[in-house]
Amino acid sequence: MLQLPKVIGHRGAAAYAPENTLESFREAKRRGATWVETDVKLTADGVPILMHDESLKRTTGLDRLVAQTPRAELPAIVPTFEEAIACWAGLGLGCNVEIKPCPGREEETAVAAVETIRRCWPASLPIPLLSSFKDPSLAAAHRAAPELPRALLIDAHGDTWEARARAVAAVGINTNGKRLTAPWAVDIKQAGFLLSVYTIDDPAVARTLVAMGADCVITDAPDVVLAALS
Ligand code: G3P
Ligand code: MG
Repeated sequence: MLQLPKVIGHRGAAAYAPENTLESFREAKRRGATWVETDVKLTADGVPILMHDESLKRTTGLDRLVAQTPRAELPAIVPTFEEAIACWAGLGLGCNVEIKPCPGREEETAVAAVETIRRCWPASLPIPLLSSFKDPSLAAAHRAAPELPRALLIDAHGDTWEARARAVAAVGINTNGKRLTAPWAVDIKQAGFLLSVYTIDDPAVARTLVAMGADCVITDAPDVVLAALS
């Protein structure tokens, strides 16, 4: 049974440390987070790693696409998903694993992430929450590991949100907190979904979203939002 915390550190604690790195997860822990969010995609040779962008340029300076770079040629700062799981195990951090496929690799990325979780996820950690903007990734995760809870990531309200979430048996909706409307929040909660909002660093906005029904706030500054909600 999934138990979401009130606050999740986005890409670790991205306000304070390079995103999606082991240092960022350690920083999130130091700043009070009990869970982190991260983005998983595949290298050219199919290894799940942590990276938000399709290119390595913004976060590492290396001007190459992730999908064209083998694991052996990745900058050292980029962790594999397996290395990150070991880090979270050591820190006692839960995780919202966002499946962030490069184009055309939606199913493959989900299957590889699930395989790694099944092989490496420690019993000491809470069950992870898988999320994705990509319905085919969530569907593949559902087929491969129905026991792992899923959330549909969605930037803003549209008519199909509930049908999309039901189609992959999602337990949650993870949405852009800056675009969440009060009526939609009510609908999400009345439909029985967990509601998480990203990426909220402003304490007042975090309080407002929780008052609207958000169960969890995903933030680059977990210390700030934890203080705001305490
Ligand atoms: O999972 C929440 C959030 O990370 C989704 O957007 O672009 O920051 O991965 P993005
Ligand atoms: Mg993300």
